[in-house]
Amino acid sequence: MKFFIDTANLDDIAEAQALGILDGVTTNPSLMAKEGITGADNIIAHYKKICDIVEGDVSAEVISTDFEGMVREGEELAALHPQIVVKLPLIADGIKACKYFSDKGIRTNVTLVFSAGQALLAAKAGATYVSPFLGRLDDISTDGLNLIAEIRQIYDNYGFETQILAASIRHTMHVIDCAKIGSDVMTGPLSSITGLLKHPLTDIGLAKFLADYKKGN
Ligand code: E4P
Repeated sequence: MKFFIDTANLDDIAEAQALGILDGVTTNPSLMAKEGITGADNIIAHYKKICDIVEGDVSAEVISTDFEGMVREGEELAALHPQIVVKLPLIADGIKACKYFSDKGIRTNVTLVFSAGQALLAAKAGATYVSPFLGRLDDISTDGLNLIAEIRQIYDNYGFETQILAASIRHTMHVIDCAKIGSDVMTGPLSSITGLLKHPLTDIGLAKFLADYKKGN
């Protein structure tokens, strides 16, 4: 399973990268705004900073909602750095743009996916990644993990190469359950990654080891 961190915060990205288990970064316009990154020039400069910190794929989301605008923005983003993956919303023009980029060999991440039907369209358009938002489904009493499982079944039935990028992760159990289902990637906040480290018996056991060692020395 690939681990992506879902943030535009450079400190959190650096902390996750230092663990040695980070495979990429996802952002979105809200995450950029949360860090005070506004305006096209500042956003582009920030993507370059992220690419300097990590070695893996960095999803950069277009803001246009029309085909021509998505193509214009996406080509500009893709030219920034080989690590950049163009992130497109799952709307009709987003699917058209995804197919356009796929035919040109530009990698894509189709986002704001909430149904198996939408994920099927993304795969047929040649998306590199599809981002089903399981947390936002959970937030409205809908089984987000079930969507991940449906997409996994459909993609495996037809051998689609599109990678399932489980997004809108809320906590470590989302990570573990998505891994059990076979999601190719998870993207979540730093806490969803570092939270996997935590177990009280590890802390208790280490403290005992150290105490016993000290007794003998
Ligand atoms: C992926 O990058 C999505 O934009 C992100 O995971 C959404 O997460 P949220 O539902 O917590 O906003």
